[in-house]
Amino acid sequence: MRKEIQKILLSESEVRDRITTLATTINKRYEGQELVVVMLLKGAIIFTADICRHLEMPLQIECLNVASYHGGTESSGQVEFLDRKLPDLAGKNVLLVDDILDTGLTLSAVSREVQALGVNSLKTCVLLAKNKTRTEEVNADYVGFEIENEFVVGYGLDYQGLYRNLPYIGILNVENL
Ligand code: XMP
Repeated sequence: MRKEIQKILLSESEVRDRITTLATTINKRYEGQELVVVMLLKGAIIFTADICRHLEMPLQIECLNVASYHGGTESSGQVEFLDRKLPDLAGKNVLLVDDILDTGLTLSAVSREVQALGVNSLKTCVLLAKNKTRTEEVNADYVGFEIENEFVVGYGLDYQGLYRNLPYIGILNVENL
């Protein structure tokens, strides 16, 4: 393990197994229907790529670039839309995919934007949900793992742009950076 990582919270195989189970649930929900996955850049890239490979319905993948952490370990409290380029989602079934649910600001802000496009249905999916009181009352429909309120990296999640490539979810050793 790298010295910057204090502890591996979720191993590569734990993440892989859970994603397969989540995908089975999502496949059942959308059986016989088309789905548009909207992933939030950049944190959800790896999770989305892996879960989508297990989805069986006709699937479209789109992305939205938002930021709220700006590189550090605390939410800035504001969600910035770095672009709003989404196709016409009116009448579509949309699954919003993010890496982690923390304060809830991101998921609620993006959900409002997507709902306003007149979608047929909107559900949300996150790999991780922090066990804490959220600023916004929002819950994800599909959650990979509930974790304690700690700053984690790996599997798409970063600290100052780094560590997204780690194949596991780890707790950062802030003293050893
Ligand atoms: P909110 O607070 O809007 O947070 O629910 C969602 C976004 O915040 C980032 N985030 C993290 N990034 N480790 C990270 O690398 C974390 O522990 C963490 N907590 C929140 C992330 O970009 C997420 O989409």
